[in-house]
Amino acid sequence: MPVTWFALACVCFMLSPPGVSVQHLEPAIIMKALDALHSRISFPKLGDPVPAQEVLDNIYKSAFRAADHAVLRPWRFLVIRGESRARLGELFVSAASADRPDITEAEKLKLRNKPLRAPLILVTVVNPREHPKVPACEQELSAAAATQNMLIAAYAQGVGAMWRTGSMAYHPLVMAGLGLASHEKIIAFVYIGSIDSAAKNLIEADLKAHFRDW
Ligand SMILES: Cc1cc2nc3c(=O)[nH]c(=O)nc-3n(C[C@H](O)[C@H](O)[C@H](O)COP(=O)(O)O)c2cc1C
Repeated sequence: MPVTWFALACVCFMLSPPGVSVQHLEPAIIMKALDALHSRISFPKLGDPVPAQEVLDNIYKSAFRAADHAVLRPWRFLVIRGESRARLGELFVSAASADRPDITEAEKLKLRNKPLRAPLILVTVVNPREHPKVPACEQELSAAAATQNMLIAAYAQGVGAMWRTGSMAYHPLVMAGLGLASHEKIIAFVYIGSIDSAAKNLIEADLKAHFRDW
């Protein structure tokens, strides 16, 4: 085993809590944890196919390693693929039409096409509960951390992803149509698929501007 893979295996072993096995992936698609964290980017153009279930499960499992005060798991995720994406598009059209009955056909088409930008969409729903020490805002942050973990897990496996929201994420008719309870919120539509475009150039992080001794 080359030294770098050996070092990675050691790091994975050290990071694994007892009883949790490290998922072994093809070496060609494994990236070191720091590489993934330092270089993750969004991919707006995503193509077929839906990633294999094993790859998706790795993404889903990463949500559960988000920082989560009192381990409330204040999230649930809707998995939208295939024909369900067209149903989501129709839901967007109905919601927008309720606000603006004069919406044009071109605008309707744009809304219909939004969910077709990737073969799979994960909707992050924050599902907060009453807790004496964990306010709803903290539970929202945990759900956001879970979503970010999933973006990184996708990237680390060579799968494209992009976090989107837009007005449809906050529209009451969309929330109702997706079956949300009155206390729930949508914080993300995570578009997932194969990478169809070149990666953009990364701008070097300006650490000095964002980290200061106090
Ligand atoms: C809460 C949230 C909502 C977002 N909504 C959108 C969106 O609706 N449309 C969009 O183009 N980017 C949206 N973004 C930003 C992209 O996901 C992406 O992070 C941004 O374009 C920067 O690119 P990068 O992830 O490659 O650094 C959102 C990000 C967050 C955290």
